[in-house]
Amino acid sequence: MSDTNQKPFSVRLIREEFPALRQQIYGKNLIYFDNGATSQKPQIVLDAINKFYSKENANIHRGVHYMSQKATTEYEESRKRIQKYINAKKSEEIIFTKGTTDGINLVAYSFGELLQAGDEIIISAMEHHSNIVPWQMLCIRKGLSLRVAPINKKGEFLIDEFEKMLSKKTKLVAITHISNTLGTVNPVKEIIEKAHSFGAKVLVDGAQSIQHMKVDVKDMNCDFYVFSSHKVFGPTGIGVLYGKEDLLDRMPPYQGGGDMISRVTFERTTYNELPFKFEAGTPHIAGGICLGTAFQFLESLNMEAAEKHERELAKYAEDILDTFEGLHIIGEAKNKTSVVSFTVDGLHPFDIGTLLDKQGIAVRTGHHCTQPLMDFFKIPGTVRASFAFYNTKQEIDTFVEALEKSISMLR
Ligand code: ALA
Repeated sequence: MSDTNQKPFSVRLIREEFPALRQQIYGKNLIYFDNGATSQKPQIVLDAINKFYSKENANIHRGVHYMSQKATTEYEESRKRIQKYINAKKSEEIIFTKGTTDGINLVAYSFGELLQAGDEIIISAMEHHSNIVPWQMLCIRKGLSLRVAPINKKGEFLIDEFEKMLSKKTKLVAITHISNTLGTVNPVKEIIEKAHSFGAKVLVDGAQSIQHMKVDVKDMNCDFYVFSSHKVFGPTGIGVLYGKEDLLDRMPPYQGGGDMISRVTFERTTYNELPFKFEAGTPHIAGGICLGTAFQFLESLNMEAAEKHERELAKYAEDILDTFEGLHIIGEAKNKTSVVSFTVDGLHPFDIGTLLDKQGIAVRTGHHCTQPLMDFFKIPGTVRASFAFYNTKQEIDTFVEALEKSISMLR
């Protein structure tokens, strides 16, 4: 990917490309601070969705006709674009999935088939349910042990404690790159290096990272990296599993059906080559193509400048919120980005979120699909503001005013 197409980073110009940001909610200008849940879509992606269904809709990998071949080419071009963006060695290593959860379940089922009773899997204490439950299910199915690497009260991964847990029994480490609840950026390269020294493979949950920073799977040296399209400015219902080719080759298919086969008889079936072995059935064709368009959009951005801007937003918000009496920021890792989670003494996050909504501000409230993390902090939930590169300090000022108003109404 060439950097020469990149435009100078301008939040004002970027915002113009996101029509959803130009609307009013309850008569107020929308302030969208729920990017951790899903991000808004740029016009180029919206146009691509419309174009596909208006003119190009056809099934892929199966048709001799013009439209099918065009759709197939675009779908496979998108795969190649994603491969280049994350610097995977081959496009065969890019598997289209339904999203991060689906990618993790695929690995848990399929890589899990290579494991044996007594093997261990390590996750961290800050994982999303989707990076806990599939491993629990696998452990029950195969008689494996699930171990949890601890964190400190700032929400930082304790690498020394993790290292002590590693042994020859460790077969897989599944770790989030960035915590959806705390914003902690985990030292994945170090984690991977340590896990590899014991022969363990590493899955990185990139649901909250690829939209915030440049991801290079070769440099990271992860074995699997999963993410969702809808958080990275593409459509919902599609995502990507990156896996190293030799591993994917050794793993059995996750689902059976059309497209994943080479030859079927009633007696025996042989499977298709990568990536199709893992892509049974008609996929989300428009989604796959338009995820490529989302990456085309990202290629035009200066990702380093975007990341810097997002970190500045989080720091700006936290510095102000720190001065609020009875407000506690949850997640104070030294290396964190874009997520500000907090509680307010005596108030329920849901009530705060509801009053913010009435002022046109979208935040997420609750346990954020990280109940064990809530138990660790002994809280029922938080209010979470999660920023994207299209957010501004002015929006944070309005949010702060609205929050002050909400708190005084509830007290
Ligand atoms: N995992 C998404 C979030 O953190 C839905 O909000």
